[in-house]
Amino acid sequence: MYRSHNCGELRASHINTEVTLSGWVQKSRNKGFIIWVDLRDRYGMTQLVFDEERTPKEMMKRAEDLGREFVVQVKGKVIERASKNPNMPTGDIEILVSELTILNKSKLPPFTIEDDTDGGEELRMKYRYLDIRRNPVRENLIFRHKVTQEVRNYLSQDGFIEVETPYLIKSTPEGARDFVVPSRMNAGQFYALPQSPQTFKQLLMVGGMDKYFQIVKCFRDEDLRADRQPEFTQIDCEMAFIDQEDILNTFEGLTRHLLKEVNGVEYEKFPRMLYDDAMRLYGNDKPDIRFGMAFGELNAVAQHKEFGVFNAAELVVGIAVPGGNSYTRKEIDKLIDWVRRPQVGALGMIYSRCNDDGSFKSSVDKFYDQDDLAKWAEVTGAKAGDLVCVLSGNANKVRAQLSALRMELAERLGLRDPKVFAPLWVMDFPLLEWDEDSERFHAMHHPFTSPKPGQLELLKTNPGDVKANAYDLVLNGNEIGGGSIRIHDKETQALMFEYLGFTPEEAEAQFGFLMDAFQYGAPPHGGLAFGLDRLVAILGGQETIRDFIAFPKNNNGRDVMIDAPAPIDDQQLTELSLKLNLKS
Ligand code: AMO
Repeated sequence: MYRSHNCGELRASHINTEVTLSGWVQKSRNKGFIIWVDLRDRYGMTQLVFDEERTPKEMMKRAEDLGREFVVQVKGKVIERASKNPNMPTGDIEILVSELTILNKSKLPPFTIEDDTDGGEELRMKYRYLDIRRNPVRENLIFRHKVTQEVRNYLSQDGFIEVETPYLIKSTPEGARDFVVPSRMNAGQFYALPQSPQTFKQLLMVGGMDKYFQIVKCFRDEDLRADRQPEFTQIDCEMAFIDQEDILNTFEGLTRHLLKEVNGVEYEKFPRMLYDDAMRLYGNDKPDIRFGMAFGELNAVAQHKEFGVFNAAELVVGIAVPGGNSYTRKEIDKLIDWVRRPQVGALGMIYSRCNDDGSFKSSVDKFYDQDDLAKWAEVTGAKAGDLVCVLSGNANKVRAQLSALRMELAERLGLRDPKVFAPLWVMDFPLLEWDEDSERFHAMHHPFTSPKPGQLELLKTNPGDVKANAYDLVLNGNEIGGGSIRIHDKETQALMFEYLGFTPEEAEAQFGFLMDAFQYGAPPHGGLAFGLDRLVAILGGQETIRDFIAFPKNNNGRDVMIDAPAPIDDQQLTELSLKLNLKS
């Protein structure tokens, strides 16, 4: 028996009990006549004590030689501590060791295994198994397990069946590049790893499964960010014989359940916002509504004066920064530099201070009088003591720029409290989105999304105006899920491919299987997928999904621990028909 108890469970009530513990040496303090060792495992930490009077000399010597991260087993008696540590659950007791077995030695770890470690990100990723010994990482993984467990329970109880779908498939277009896998048995041909199980879950609906879910790995070859990994996990769901309202209610129910079970917050109905309103009010399709600072459009009150910059702009738009009038001139200049950074891309920023006495002082006082500036304050909702920040230019660009500024200022003002949760449905996304590079329309969600009833005809004349039965679930300014009601008849699906620029032959070659299936009694259906990594990170009060993934990739898509991707040898290349076999 390696242990009678774990390192987190012994209390004063165990005093005088003989116990066996196993774990890792966190650290030891050697005073010569007495040695204390902190022994750690997944459950906590317990203090061991060896002293000259009560510990045999030979064991004293071995205790002295214990290094950090040695794996040891000890037997001993639980005794009361002379000086108790109220910060440790086991802080009332220690173990007077009578037997010490070294189960395994350890090299000195490359960083300290403590909550605040001295190890940089890359080093910790290389030795991820050591990083996982640290409390914050381990707790994140346990947290993820808890969320996943709750998801499975909730959906299973609601009649959803978890079905596995294949990983070696044919490309599904979700907007990113595919990872491909060469086929040895079919020379020159490739599987693609799924960007999502989209077509399979729709086929499961044709197969009559009715309510499906899967906690599933998805693969996308796209540029990485804090909230993106090349392989990530979805809670993928689909339902048949439902309308949009059924889907929203079902998954709002799941999210509400998680907020309650995992975070202890009760939430009533989630607010809903149209995509067009989200863009107009927050410049963003995933607005963080934990705080206000909604956009005020100023064209009507700021144009047709003498200020040429505003007159030439498609959109003049501002936000009120709470308490911003306290910013010094230097601080405001820094803010202007911030919006001018290439990542944001604004040409400049105009501001108006809202003084406590009700007067205003702007950077364009030459062109605007007090009445004008009072209107700016009114439209942006600014009060005395606030600062109105105004950007202008091309509407789409300026909205994105002001959205970035809004988020930055909210961060600086401490308005993005990770313990506050603000869920939001964003509804009625456009069906199509114009792609500047290829100069054509792409499906904004994916090509299986149905247009809003009665809008199919609009596709011919105003494709950019067609709205879809598509919705995203946003939590604290992050898109944690998205889905749609699908097309379920062959004719509409074929038409959709045609509008997206597929020839009938291309559509048939790529999606013939789906359109065939639609001819055999496809029920009306729809669904949604949550990004599990993002959901877990946000419920856990953070935004970097890497911290909630056991073995993540770095920003270059590399696993630095196993050193992947890596070259493969010539023989493997030849077998996969990826190299000309010169002998044949
Ligand atoms: P979508 O592409 O919106 O929809 O993806 C669903 C959710 O997955 C998460 N996500 C990611 N998380 C981490 N890293 C990534 N690279 C990444 N990409 C996406 C997001 C997103 O909201 N098949 C459809 C769903 C449907 O229509 O039912 C789909 O995949 O949180």
